[in-house]
Amino acid sequence: MEIIIAKNAGFCFGVKRAVETAFAASGENVCILGELIHNKSVIKKLAEKNIKTVNSIDEIKSGKIIIRSHGVSPEIYNLAKEKNLEIIDCTCSFVSLIQQKVKEFFDKGYHIIIIGEKNHPEVIGINGWCGNLATIISSENENFDVSAYEKLCIVAQTTQNPIEFDKIIRKIDIYPLKTVEVFNTICYTTIERNKQAEDLSRKCDCVIVIGGLNSSNTKKLYDVSCINCKNVYWVEKADELDYKKFIKYNKVAVLAGASTPIEDILEVKQKMDEIANKEEQKENSSEKEMSMEQVMSHINATENSNKRGQVVKTTIVLANDEGLMLQIGAKKGEILLSKDEINADGSYDKTQYSAGDEMEVVIIESNPLTVSRKRLLSSRAEDSKVTGLSENSEFSVTIDGFNKGGLTAKYGSAAIFIPASQIRFGFVKAEEFDKYVGKELRVRVIKIEGKKIVASQKAIIEEERNVRNIEKQKIAEDFFASIEIGKVVSGKVVRFAEFGAFVNVDGFDCLAHVSDLCWTNVKKPEDILKKDETYNFMILKVDKEKQQVSLGYKQLQPRPWDLAVEKYPVNSVLKGKVVRLTGFGAFIEVEPGIDGLVHVSQISNEWIENPTSALTIGQEVDVLVLDINPETEKLTLSIKALLPPPAVEPTPAPEQASKNEERAKKFDTKEYKPRDQKEKRERKPREDNNEPREWLSNENGGASIGEMLKDLDIFQK
Ligand code: F3S
Repeated sequence: MEIIIAKNAGFCFGVKRAVETAFAASGENVCILGELIHNKSVIKKLAEKNIKTVNSIDEIKSGKIIIRSHGVSPEIYNLAKEKNLEIIDCTCSFVSLIQQKVKEFFDKGYHIIIIGEKNHPEVIGINGWCGNLATIISSENENFDVSAYEKLCIVAQTTQNPIEFDKIIRKIDIYPLKTVEVFNTICYTTIERNKQAEDLSRKCDCVIVIGGLNSSNTKKLYDVSCINCKNVYWVEKADELDYKKFIKYNKVAVLAGASTPIEDILEVKQKMDEIANKEEQKENSSEKEMSMEQVMSHINATENSNKRGQVVKTTIVLANDEGLMLQIGAKKGEILLSKDEINADGSYDKTQYSAGDEMEVVIIESNPLTVSRKRLLSSRAEDSKVTGLSENSEFSVTIDGFNKGGLTAKYGSAAIFIPASQIRFGFVKAEEFDKYVGKELRVRVIKIEGKKIVASQKAIIEEERNVRNIEKQKIAEDFFASIEIGKVVSGKVVRFAEFGAFVNVDGFDCLAHVSDLCWTNVKKPEDILKKDETYNFMILKVDKEKQQVSLGYKQLQPRPWDLAVEKYPVNSVLKGKVVRLTGFGAFIEVEPGIDGLVHVSQISNEWIENPTSALTIGQEVDVLVLDINPETEKLTLSIKALLPPPAVEPTPAPEQASKNEERAKKFDTKEYKPRDQKEKRERKPREDNNEPREWLSNENGGASIGEMLKDLDIFQK
């Protein structure tokens, strides 16, 4: 015996949703208006969950009301609101569409014709949307007269037999009406079930139909089967059958209504197996009969005939406020594409879509069949991002995670991996990976394998550094070609270091050493220059190989001694400060950079053994200019000359006279050196370094005029 189970046996998506929603409902006083589905065991299980089935809304005083997939009239919604009931609306989308269409055309003045069963809850509910004024036609054999209406809108109950529907339409066609709008609103699962019933009932010598005796769609399956097959059995439950009598059949088809749970179908199959003669099974149907596993896989296969992710071509049947009704293939029927699933941005304008237009959608759920165009567009957009990439392509990604080898991200539909060695220069430890999560990185493709891409940020950093270096090199070459020692250039102070100021000249950073900023001693470069200000500098030293240029600022400023002759003529009286005391005299600073010597003999009218006995460092004194020599930078001063003459000129003792001579000799020779002519510290040779123009210490400043002249030893002439 071969047992063939119809592909569309069991719950349709509308019923499945209603059952799941009802079982998920919680709380006190949950009622279903009418039987949720035409299946006693389901109703019983709901009752066990304290979810009561009522026949009228009048029976519900408070709490929640579940509206089943058949839908209800607007009057029921209004009554529920008046009673402050919480509405759990499980109206099937296909039924909602019919209700809206009926309301729309009724409001436009059309007379509504519903082809369906007068007493079916779905039809009663639909009729409510046109003020209960519809003409309801169940059969072509009925006598009906709609000649009085100029405009007709015809819809069908979702479980209407398609053949009967066509016959009734043809009958209505004979009326000389001006406008007739026909909407074939038969649910695609009904069409498919009826087709299978017709097909299997032709092929099989027995048909078992499982479903509630008050189920409209189950009845249709039974009626269709009876046309082609003499042995049709309609049962609600598996235990209603006497399975022994099925042994005589070669092929048995099992059909089930939209409200038949899968458990009932499997139970029938199991019972059939139990009573069947094993020998006979082997002889007649060993290769054809399905095992329990095969039944399950068959059902799964049926569900998966529309596989998730599969792209299907559809034809638009209808565009309304809910979305688009699409025809999937020639045989698979219609399905609603929700308005939220049409465009990538969620927008929807029904006027943009016309019946007959083709549209591709992707299957996002196979049971119940659910499709989306939005996800298809988004997936294609993501794919196009990836297909636009090739090796060396650059793109930006936001890091969304990491693994032990590196960072991970998504780009379109591709998975991106950035190995630790390709994140940046240097080693990036695994503990540091999390710092990159959420950051956007520019990366370059280094390898593509399908939708797996290995990328590198380091490659981009390296390239850009090379470009910068080339640009810098060009600037440097132009700069070095344009400069020479002694040339005066304009430069902007860009930053300070302890040992000097960095000055940008034509895009190239040079150093003005602190010793070349002022003729007097300066502690910090900021004392002379200001950041971001532009000054003139003299180029003092150029090292093209190391790309270092030393600048001087003080060299463009007047030296204190250049003006000293005019400012401090002989016999002028000055104020000064004692800055240094030696055995032969005291050095008096008359201005920064100019110190004069008061010889010990010129300190006082009294004989002084040591200047410290008469003067202290920092003391201010009046001095008379005895002599000035700008060439040797010597200024000879006297304090004594400004003192009143002593009553008696003291005569020094012979040994004192000798000491005075000795001290005077020192004064005329090498002991007397202006302060700024002190020996400079010996410079350490600068270490070689690969880094371009890196000033390593404060000892590498530009050569000062003092340095350049030191070998001349002009003070020792
Ligand atoms: Fe809805 Fe069709 Fe089922 S109308 S409830 S999906 S039979």
